[in-house]
Amino acid sequence: MYRNRSRFGVSVKNMTTKHRSLQKTLVVGLTAGLALLWCMATLGTVSIAQHRLNQLLDSALAETAQRLLPLAVVEIINRDTPSVAQHIVSFNQHEERLIYLVRNKAGEVLLQSHTAAPNMFNNTLISGFSSSSTHRFYGAFALQGTVHIEVAEPLSQRLEAIRSIALMLLWPLLIFIFLAFICSWLFIRFSLRHLRHYHNEIEQRNSHDLTPVNLQGLPAEVVIIGESVNRLLLRLQQALEAERSFTANSAHELRTPIATVLAQTQRLQQSLITEKSKAQAQKIAMSLRHLAHISEQLMQLAKAEGGSLLAATPHDLMALLRFIVTSMQHPSSPIKINLQLPANAVFMSTIDQDAFAILIRNLIDNAHKHSDSLAPISVYLSAEGVLRVVNAGPIVAAATLQQLHKRFVRSNWQVQGAGLGLAIVGAIVQGINASMVLNSPATGQTDGFEVIIKFAPTLL
Ligand SMILES: Nc1ncnc2c1ncn2[C@@H]1O[C@H](COP(=O)(O)OP(=O)(O)O)[C@@H](O)[C@H]1O
Ligand SMILES: [Mg+2]
Repeated sequence: MYRNRSRFGVSVKNMTTKHRSLQKTLVVGLTAGLALLWCMATLGTVSIAQHRLNQLLDSALAETAQRLLPLAVVEIINRDTPSVAQHIVSFNQHEERLIYLVRNKAGEVLLQSHTAAPNMFNNTLISGFSSSSTHRFYGAFALQGTVHIEVAEPLSQRLEAIRSIALMLLWPLLIFIFLAFICSWLFIRFSLRHLRHYHNEIEQRNSHDLTPVNLQGLPAEVVIIGESVNRLLLRLQQALEAERSFTANSAHELRTPIATVLAQTQRLQQSLITEKSKAQAQKIAMSLRHLAHISEQLMQLAKAEGGSLLAATPHDLMALLRFIVTSMQHPSSPIKINLQLPANAVFMSTIDQDAFAILIRNLIDNAHKHSDSLAPISVYLSAEGVLRVVNAGPIVAAATLQQLHKRFVRSNWQVQGAGLGLAIVGAIVQGINASMVLNSPATGQTDGFEVIIKFAPTLL
């Protein structure tokens, strides 16, 4: 079954859009920055290493060519047919990292290492360093330029060496990113602990507690905000106090004149002769009683919103509730109050006894006024401190139910009232850190109205 429910307690939920976490932004930014710096350092190291490696390997290549050339010349001169090309057979099977080709002035091959293929080399005879897409060469001439040697080294070897250096530097980056993330997360979380504490302190502030928030330990950037918030709290407290004392004072000032006028009206009523005049005086007296009730409720509201609602010593709510309900149950009243308390149970609470009496009286008064039948009013208090006041009546729409705890909001215009009863109850509930839920229909019923208040247990 669809149930109308209105819930409000001390906490006000944040319903704004989700904001980005400072901790997350800092951690991601720091880790990404450090990773970027590491990558840049790796890139610099690799390019310097590549440059140095090229220098070293080039000089080794040139040295090899210079050493091989005299040996090749002697070999060619000592041959029977010097112009016939000859392959140098390797002693053992091995992978040749350096290959060479000896050619005469006309470019004819005179000598070559066993894996050298002439098409791998430069077509023209070049002296000094040169490169192709696959090899690095060094060429040199001997015997007045009649014999030319070219030694070649595959570029893939150099690339392989650079790649392993780069990989060696990049592998630790993965571990580094992970460690940087964890360390910065923990460090920033630790640094923001005062901010979290500050947030909890502000969360605890409400219309009953607007004392300045302790700013100790806050970072300098946040202290300015904290000081502004404290100044705002002070202004708010002054404004609320002014409003409450105005309400209480004016209600108090009105009480005596209203009572005087009411007494005079009643006296006048007795002296009147015609029925019509008596009825008119009766109406004036009723309006004055309503006025007195409103001024009484205004004073209750000022007390509920302003004063301290907690007593120094705890007392049993069960016994107090029994006393209040008995005092409200007039034998002549057609609507009975059904009080249900667990046998032998005790619920200790530090809620101010007057405040609790005001709360119960307003709830039972409402149940009396707004009930549409003579069905009894039920009042329950569980051993866990959950109070339920249930009465018969039509279902109140969900949207209306949400607004009923506000001042001067009413939904039943058949009976007299000012719309202050539930506002007083709501202010007391907030002042004692309890929570209140309004239900219509009542739990387990198809109609009716129910108020549930959950009192916080007192730590003894
Ligand atoms: N026990 C109840 N049963 C039905 N309706 C209720 C009950 N208590 C409160 N209400 C509804 O909530 C409205 C606000 O209640 P309240 O603040 O006490 O003002 P008032 O009783 O003066 O109208 C009432 O007008 C009524 O419509
Ligand atoms: Mg009321």
